Amino acid sequence: MKHFLKETDFTAPELAEVFARAREFKRNRGRPGPGVLAGQTWAMIFSKSSTRTRVSFEVGIHELGGHALFLNRNDIQLGRGESIEDTARVLSRFVHGLIVRTHGHGDIMRLADASSVPVINGLTDFLHPCQILADAFTAAEHWAGPGGDLVAALKGRKIAFLGDTRFNMANSWILGASLFGMKISLAGPKGFEPGPEIQAQLKYEGRKADYHFTTDPAEAVAGADLVYTDVWTSMGQEEEAKKRVAQMKPYAVTAKLFAAAKPDALFMHCLPAHPGEEVEQAVLDNPRCVIFDEAENRLHVQKAIMAALAESARK
Ligand code: CP
Ligand code: NVA
Repeated sequence: MKHFLKETDFTAPELAEVFARAREFKRNRGRPGPGVLAGQTWAMIFSKSSTRTRVSFEVGIHELGGHALFLNRNDIQLGRGESIEDTARVLSRFVHGLIVRTHGHGDIMRLADASSVPVINGLTDFLHPCQILADAFTAAEHWAGPGGDLVAALKGRKIAFLGDTRFNMANSWILGASLFGMKISLAGPKGFEPGPEIQAQLKYEGRKADYHFTTDPAEAVAGADLVYTDVWTSMGQEEEAKKRVAQMKPYAVTAKLFAAAKPDALFMHCLPAHPGEEVEQAVLDNPRCVIFDEAENRLHVQKAIMAALAESARK
Protein backbone atom coordinates (compact mmCIF):
# COMPACT_ATOMS: atom_id res chain seq x y z
CA MET A 1 0.00 0.00 0.00
CA LYS A 2 1.38 3.38 -0.98
CA HIS A 3 1.33 6.00 1.78
CA PHE A 4 2.54 9.59 1.92
CA LEU A 5 4.28 9.97 5.27
CA LYS A 6 7.37 11.83 4.07
CA GLU A 7 8.39 13.85 1.00
CA THR A 8 10.54 11.03 -0.32
CA ASP A 9 7.61 8.59 -0.47
CA PHE A 10 7.24 9.99 -3.99
CA THR A 11 9.99 9.28 -6.49
CA ALA A 12 11.18 12.16 -8.68
CA PRO A 13 8.92 11.11 -11.63
CA GLU A 14 5.93 10.72 -9.27
CA LEU A 15 6.62 14.16 -7.88
CA ALA A 16 6.62 15.63 -11.39
CA GLU A 17 3.26 13.93 -11.97
CA VAL A 18 1.83 15.34 -8.70
CA PHE A 19 2.95 18.86 -9.65
CA ALA A 20 1.53 18.56 -13.18
CA ARG A 21 -1.77 17.36 -11.81
CA ALA A 22 -1.89 20.07 -9.12
CA ARG A 23 -1.40 22.64 -11.88
CA GLU A 24 -4.33 21.12 -13.81
CA PHE A 25 -6.55 21.06 -10.71
CA LYS A 26 -5.71 24.70 -10.07
CA ARG A 27 -6.40 25.74 -13.67
CA ASN A 28 -9.72 23.87 -13.81
CA ARG A 29 -11.02 24.70 -10.34
CA GLY A 30 -14.79 25.11 -10.35
CA ARG A 31 -15.28 23.03 -13.51
CA PRO A 32 -16.64 19.50 -13.09
CA GLY A 33 -13.61 17.37 -12.31
CA PRO A 34 -12.69 13.74 -12.95
CA GLY A 35 -14.17 12.71 -9.58
CA VAL A 36 -11.23 10.46 -8.75
CA LEU A 37 -12.60 9.90 -5.23
CA ALA A 38 -16.23 9.39 -6.32
CA GLY A 39 -18.03 7.05 -3.93
CA GLN A 40 -15.12 7.15 -1.46
CA THR A 41 -14.89 8.31 2.15
CA TRP A 42 -11.58 9.58 3.54
CA ALA A 43 -11.22 9.96 7.31
CA MET A 44 -9.10 12.61 9.00
CA ILE A 45 -7.81 11.80 12.50
CA PHE A 46 -6.45 14.96 14.13
CA SER A 47 -4.77 15.18 17.54
CA LYS A 48 -3.76 18.84 17.09
CA SER A 49 -5.44 22.07 15.97
CA SER A 50 -5.57 22.99 12.28
CA THR A 51 -7.02 25.56 9.92
CA ARG A 52 -5.27 25.05 6.57
CA THR A 53 -4.71 21.30 6.66
CA ARG A 54 -8.22 20.48 7.83
CA VAL A 55 -10.02 22.83 5.46
CA SER A 56 -7.88 22.13 2.40
CA PHE A 57 -8.34 18.36 2.81
CA GLU A 58 -12.07 18.56 3.51
CA VAL A 59 -12.63 20.85 0.52
CA GLY A 60 -10.26 18.82 -1.67
CA ILE A 61 -11.98 15.50 -0.91
CA HIS A 62 -15.35 17.09 -1.69
CA GLU A 63 -14.06 18.54 -4.96
CA LEU A 64 -12.78 15.11 -6.01
CA GLY A 65 -16.25 13.64 -5.48
CA GLY A 66 -15.56 12.00 -2.12
CA HIS A 67 -16.79 12.44 1.43
CA ALA A 68 -14.54 13.72 4.26
CA LEU A 69 -15.02 12.40 7.78
CA PHE A 70 -13.31 14.56 10.41
CA LEU A 71 -12.43 12.67 13.59
CA ASN A 72 -10.98 14.49 16.53
CA ARG A 73 -8.73 11.97 18.28
CA ASN A 74 -10.56 12.53 21.58
CA ASP A 75 -13.96 11.82 20.05
CA ILE A 76 -12.99 8.31 18.98
CA GLN A 77 -11.88 5.35 21.09
CA LEU A 78 -8.24 6.05 20.17
CA GLY A 79 -8.41 8.88 22.69
CA ARG A 80 -9.50 6.37 25.37
CA GLY A 81 -6.68 3.95 24.70
CA GLU A 82 -7.80 1.78 21.76
CA SER A 83 -4.60 0.80 19.98
CA ILE A 84 -3.32 2.60 16.91
CA GLU A 85 -3.22 -0.75 15.08
CA ASP A 86 -6.84 -1.68 15.85
CA THR A 87 -7.96 1.83 14.90
CA ALA A 88 -6.19 1.46 11.56
CA ARG A 89 -7.64 -2.02 10.94
CA VAL A 90 -11.17 -0.97 11.79
CA LEU A 91 -11.12 2.28 9.79
CA SER A 92 -9.59 0.42 6.82
CA ARG A 93 -12.82 -1.63 6.68
CA PHE A 94 -14.90 1.54 6.33
CA VAL A 95 -12.92 4.21 4.50
CA HIS A 96 -10.67 4.53 1.45
CA GLY A 97 -7.94 6.72 2.90
CA LEU A 98 -6.72 8.28 6.14
CA ILE A 99 -5.20 11.68 6.85
CA VAL A 100 -3.51 11.92 10.21
CA ARG A 101 -2.18 14.83 12.29
CA THR A 102 -0.41 13.71 15.43
CA HIS A 103 2.63 14.15 17.67
CA GLY A 104 4.98 11.18 17.28
CA HIS A 105 6.04 10.20 13.79
CA GLY A 106 6.34 6.61 15.03
CA ASP A 107 2.58 6.61 15.67
CA ILE A 108 1.74 7.44 12.06
CA MET A 109 4.20 4.78 10.88
CA ARG A 110 2.48 2.18 13.07
CA LEU A 111 -0.90 3.30 11.79
CA ALA A 112 0.25 3.06 8.17
CA ASP A 113 1.73 -0.41 8.78
CA ALA A 114 -1.60 -1.68 10.08
CA SER A 115 -3.72 0.11 7.49
CA SER A 116 -4.90 -1.42 4.24
CA VAL A 117 -5.82 2.01 2.82
CA PRO A 118 -3.45 4.90 1.97
CA VAL A 119 -2.33 7.10 4.88
CA ILE A 120 -1.28 10.75 4.46
CA ASN A 121 0.80 12.65 7.00
CA GLY A 122 -1.01 15.89 7.88
CA LEU A 123 1.86 16.86 10.26
CA THR A 124 3.85 15.12 12.95
CA ASP A 125 6.52 16.53 15.24
CA PHE A 126 9.06 15.16 12.74
CA LEU A 127 7.70 16.15 9.32
CA HIS A 128 5.01 18.15 7.48
CA PRO A 129 5.36 16.81 3.92
CA CYS A 130 2.05 18.13 2.47
CA GLN A 131 3.17 21.64 3.40
CA ILE A 132 6.57 21.18 1.76
CA LEU A 133 5.13 19.90 -1.50
CA ALA A 134 2.72 22.85 -1.61
CA ASP A 135 5.54 25.27 -0.79
CA ALA A 136 7.85 23.84 -3.44
CA PHE A 137 5.00 23.94 -5.95
CA THR A 138 4.37 27.61 -5.04
CA ALA A 139 8.02 28.56 -5.47
CA ALA A 140 8.18 26.61 -8.74
CA GLU A 141 5.10 28.42 -10.10
CA HIS A 142 6.86 31.74 -9.46
CA TRP A 143 10.18 30.62 -10.89
CA ALA A 144 8.99 28.54 -13.86
CA GLY A 145 6.25 30.89 -15.03
CA PRO A 146 3.09 29.70 -16.86
CA GLY A 147 3.73 26.41 -18.65
CA GLY A 148 7.38 26.23 -17.47
CA ASP A 149 8.94 23.06 -16.05
CA LEU A 150 8.04 23.12 -12.36
CA VAL A 151 10.50 20.49 -11.18
CA ALA A 152 13.43 21.93 -13.17
CA ALA A 153 12.67 25.40 -11.75
CA LEU A 154 13.60 24.21 -8.26
CA LYS A 155 16.99 22.68 -9.07
CA GLY A 156 20.01 24.47 -7.60
CA ARG A 157 17.93 27.11 -5.78
CA LYS A 158 18.92 28.14 -2.26
CA ILE A 159 16.54 28.20 0.71
CA ALA A 160 17.34 30.06 3.94
CA PHE A 161 15.41 28.63 6.89
CA LEU A 162 15.43 30.75 10.05
CA GLY A 163 14.37 30.19 13.65
CA ASP A 164 13.39 26.74 14.89
CA THR A 165 15.81 24.66 12.88
CA ARG A 166 15.18 21.46 14.83
CA PHE A 167 11.51 20.63 14.33
CA ASN A 168 9.03 19.45 11.70
CA MET A 169 9.26 22.28 9.14
CA ALA A 170 13.06 22.43 9.12
CA ASN A 171 13.33 18.62 8.96
CA SER A 172 10.83 18.45 6.14
CA TRP A 173 12.65 21.14 4.17
CA ILE A 174 15.94 19.22 4.55
CA LEU A 175 14.32 16.07 3.18
CA GLY A 176 12.36 18.00 0.55
CA ALA A 177 15.41 19.95 -0.60
CA SER A 178 17.25 16.66 -1.19
CA LEU A 179 14.36 15.47 -3.38
CA PHE A 180 14.07 18.74 -5.33
CA GLY A 181 17.82 19.26 -5.77
CA MET A 182 17.83 22.44 -3.67
CA LYS A 183 20.38 23.76 -1.18
CA ILE A 184 19.34 24.78 2.32
CA SER A 185 21.05 26.98 4.90
CA LEU A 186 19.50 26.80 8.35
CA ALA A 187 20.14 29.55 10.90
CA GLY A 188 19.07 29.04 14.49
CA PRO A 189 20.35 29.20 18.05
CA LYS A 190 23.13 26.95 19.31
CA GLY A 191 21.56 23.66 20.32
CA PHE A 192 19.05 23.80 17.44
CA GLU A 193 21.26 22.02 14.91
CA PRO A 194 19.23 19.55 12.80
CA GLY A 195 18.72 16.56 15.10
CA PRO A 196 19.71 12.90 14.95
CA GLU A 197 16.29 11.80 13.57
CA ILE A 198 16.63 13.68 10.29
CA GLN A 199 20.26 12.63 9.94
CA ALA A 200 19.25 9.00 10.53
CA GLN A 201 16.46 9.35 7.95
CA LEU A 202 18.86 10.68 5.30
CA LYS A 203 21.31 7.90 6.10
CA TYR A 204 18.58 5.24 5.99
CA GLU A 205 17.47 6.47 2.57
CA GLY A 206 21.07 6.82 1.37
CA ARG A 207 20.39 10.46 0.45
CA LYS A 208 22.84 13.29 0.17
CA ALA A 209 21.24 16.52 1.36
CA ASP A 210 22.93 19.82 0.60
CA TYR A 211 22.27 21.42 3.99
CA HIS A 212 24.30 23.61 6.26
CA PHE A 213 23.62 24.92 9.78
CA THR A 214 24.86 28.25 11.11
CA THR A 215 24.09 30.48 14.08
CA ASP A 216 24.52 33.54 11.81
CA PRO A 217 21.24 34.59 10.14
CA ALA A 218 23.04 36.90 7.67
CA GLU A 219 25.17 34.00 6.45
CA ALA A 220 22.07 31.87 5.82
CA VAL A 221 20.15 34.49 3.81
CA ALA A 222 23.09 35.59 1.63
CA GLY A 223 22.29 34.53 -1.94
CA ALA A 224 18.99 32.88 -0.95
CA ASP A 225 16.18 32.51 -3.50
CA LEU A 226 13.68 31.74 -0.76
CA VAL A 227 13.56 32.89 2.87
CA TYR A 228 11.44 30.65 5.09
CA THR A 229 10.40 30.70 8.70
CA ASP A 230 8.02 28.90 11.03
CA VAL A 231 6.57 29.65 14.45
CA TRP A 232 9.05 29.56 17.32
CA THR A 233 6.68 27.63 19.57
CA SER A 234 5.11 24.70 17.80
CA MET A 235 2.03 22.82 18.91
CA GLY A 236 2.94 20.84 22.02
CA GLN A 237 5.80 23.20 23.05
CA GLU A 238 3.65 25.83 24.75
CA GLU A 239 5.39 25.46 28.12
CA GLU A 240 8.73 26.46 26.56
CA ALA A 241 7.32 29.51 24.77
CA LYS A 242 9.04 32.21 26.84
CA LYS A 243 12.46 30.60 26.64
CA ARG A 244 12.17 29.92 22.92
CA VAL A 245 11.16 33.52 22.11
CA ALA A 246 14.27 34.79 23.91
CA GLN A 247 16.54 32.23 22.20
CA MET A 248 15.20 32.80 18.70
CA LYS A 249 14.90 36.60 18.69
CA PRO A 250 18.07 37.09 16.58
CA TYR A 251 16.53 34.89 13.88
CA ALA A 252 13.40 36.98 13.26
CA VAL A 253 12.90 37.70 9.56
CA THR A 254 13.11 41.47 9.57
CA ALA A 255 12.84 43.68 6.48
CA LYS A 256 16.57 44.33 6.82
CA LEU A 257 17.42 40.62 6.87
CA PHE A 258 15.06 39.85 3.99
CA ALA A 259 16.75 42.60 1.94
CA ALA A 260 20.05 40.71 2.31
CA ALA A 261 18.69 37.76 0.29
CA LYS A 262 18.59 37.86 -3.53
CA PRO A 263 16.70 40.95 -4.79
CA ASP A 264 13.91 38.76 -6.19
CA ALA A 265 13.83 36.30 -3.27
CA LEU A 266 10.45 35.01 -2.09
CA PHE A 267 9.31 34.96 1.54
CA MET A 268 7.34 31.96 2.79
CA HIS A 269 5.82 30.80 6.07
CA CYS A 270 3.69 27.72 6.58
CA LEU A 271 1.39 29.77 8.88
CA PRO A 272 -0.05 30.54 11.37
CA ALA A 273 2.29 33.57 11.67
CA HIS A 274 3.02 35.71 14.71
CA PRO A 275 3.86 39.15 13.29
CA GLY A 276 6.45 40.88 15.44
CA GLU A 277 7.81 37.54 16.61
CA GLU A 278 9.39 35.27 13.95
CA VAL A 279 8.56 37.72 11.13
CA GLU A 280 8.22 41.48 10.89
CA GLN A 281 4.92 42.85 9.55
CA ALA A 282 6.85 44.72 6.81
CA VAL A 283 8.01 41.37 5.39
CA LEU A 284 4.44 40.03 5.39
CA ASP A 285 3.42 43.17 3.48
CA ASN A 286 6.20 42.79 0.90
CA PRO A 287 4.87 41.82 -2.59
CA ARG A 288 7.40 38.97 -2.62
CA CYS A 289 5.68 37.42 0.42
CA VAL A 290 3.66 34.51 -1.03
CA ILE A 291 2.13 33.03 2.13
CA PHE A 292 -1.45 32.98 0.83
CA ASP A 293 -0.41 31.34 -2.46
CA GLU A 294 1.23 28.66 -0.32
CA ALA A 295 -1.96 28.22 1.70
CA GLU A 296 -4.14 28.00 -1.43
CA ASN A 297 -1.77 25.54 -3.08
CA ARG A 298 -2.24 23.12 -0.19
CA LEU A 299 -5.63 22.39 -1.77
CA HIS A 300 -4.42 21.77 -5.32
CA VAL A 301 -1.33 19.78 -4.33
CA GLN A 302 -3.16 17.60 -1.78
CA LYS A 303 -5.86 16.81 -4.35
CA ALA A 304 -3.04 15.58 -6.61
CA ILE A 305 -1.51 13.56 -3.74
CA MET A 306 -4.86 11.90 -2.95
CA ALA A 307 -5.50 11.18 -6.63
CA ALA A 308 -2.08 9.51 -6.94
CA LEU A 309 -2.62 7.38 -3.82
CA ALA A 310 -6.18 6.44 -4.74
CA GLU A 311 -5.05 5.30 -8.20
CA SER A 312 -2.18 3.34 -6.74
CA ALA A 313 -4.57 1.63 -4.27
CA ARG A 314 -6.84 0.53 -7.15
CA LYS A 315 -4.02 -1.30 -8.94
N1 CP B 1 0.33 25.23 7.80
C1 CP B 1 -0.56 24.42 8.41
O1 CP B 1 -0.44 23.20 8.40
O2 CP B 1 -1.58 25.08 9.00
P1 CP B 1 -2.68 24.46 9.97
O3 CP B 1 -1.98 24.12 11.26
O4 CP B 1 -3.68 25.56 10.11
O5 CP B 1 -3.26 23.24 9.34
N1 NVA C 1 5.92 23.86 13.47
C1 NVA C 1 4.50 24.16 13.50
C2 NVA C 1 3.90 24.03 12.14
C3 NVA C 1 2.45 24.41 12.06
C4 NVA C 1 1.88 24.21 10.69
C5 NVA C 1 3.83 23.25 14.50
O1 NVA C 1 4.12 22.05 14.52
O2 NVA C 1 3.00 23.73 15.30
